[in-house]
Amino acid sequence: MNAPIKKIVLPVAGLGTRFLPATKAIPKEMLPVVDKPLIQYAVEEALEAGIEDIILVTGRNKQVMEDHFDHAYELEKILQEKGKDEALEVARSMLLEEGRISYVRQMRPLGLGHAIWCARKLVGNNPFAVALPDDLIKGRPGALKQMVEAYNELGGNMVATMNVSREDTSKYGVITPGDHTKNRIVVGGLVEKPHPDDAPSTQAVVGRYILQPEVMDHLNKKAVGAGGEIQLTDAMAELIGQQPFHAIEFDGTRFDCGSKIGWLMANLSLATEDPTLASEVERLITFR
Ligand code: UTP
Repeated sequence: MNAPIKKIVLPVAGLGTRFLPATKAIPKEMLPVVDKPLIQYAVEEALEAGIEDIILVTGRNKQVMEDHFDHAYELEKILQEKGKDEALEVARSMLLEEGRISYVRQMRPLGLGHAIWCARKLVGNNPFAVALPDDLIKGRPGALKQMVEAYNELGGNMVATMNVSREDTSKYGVITPGDHTKNRIVVGGLVEKPHPDDAPSTQAVVGRYILQPEVMDHLNKKAVGAGGEIQLTDAMAELIGQQPFHAIEFDGTRFDCGSKIGWLMANLSLATEDPTLASEVERLITFR
């Protein structure tokens, strides 16, 4: 039996330069989509997948996320006194049992691979999931649950992929696809941000992964890859051939909320599904 996925690493130490000036003093992961910050969507998706331990890799200016997952005593007291029970419940909705959420600092933003490596002591010798909170994925069930279910059958390592246009391959990690069964693809190779002419396919990796702890041995080498960063893709590529490695073409819609257009689209998409907002939003879009 495959060891169950009980831990997730959420790297949130990036600089968010594509979203300046909004991200100058607040972390990108605290940008709201409709009424919830991106980090909350990621944690909810992990809980839905049965994951118990949440590990945030944070950086400078990221303390506000610790506060988001803690009591807000003053606010809760005022809401209680005013009898605002519904608001009180919402304010308390993201309180996990103490000890289930941990924080570790990435002291320098050296890349996604380095951020994951910073969590090695908390991950230990266990398989673990990774989610990039700025990739918001709308899916029923969520992408992580879809992946955990596939992992329970297949084991090994896993990335979530989607089909992109060839010219967009240079923005993603791209797989060399092998055998294909339903939405499960055997991964024969992985390359980060290839030139579109060199991309081995148009199956692009988005921000959801299931990894075996051995990936940390490869991250430990701190090899610098595309963009001068320590890339997770390069460490994952070293596992191919050593351990099972699959891509899951997930069922759902992914929004790149680290970009302005992706974030706007996510807001519109989720707002049109919210009965308290849908008609106003649709009226606004139709009148433009
Ligand atoms: P991005 O590629 O979106 O980089 O990171 P970024 O710095 O956050 O944003 P831009 O490109 O400057 O606008 C993908 C994920 O990896 C994390 C980010 O927080 C995000 O979840 N990351 C990236 C780190 O935690 N540390 C890093 O050194 C780099």
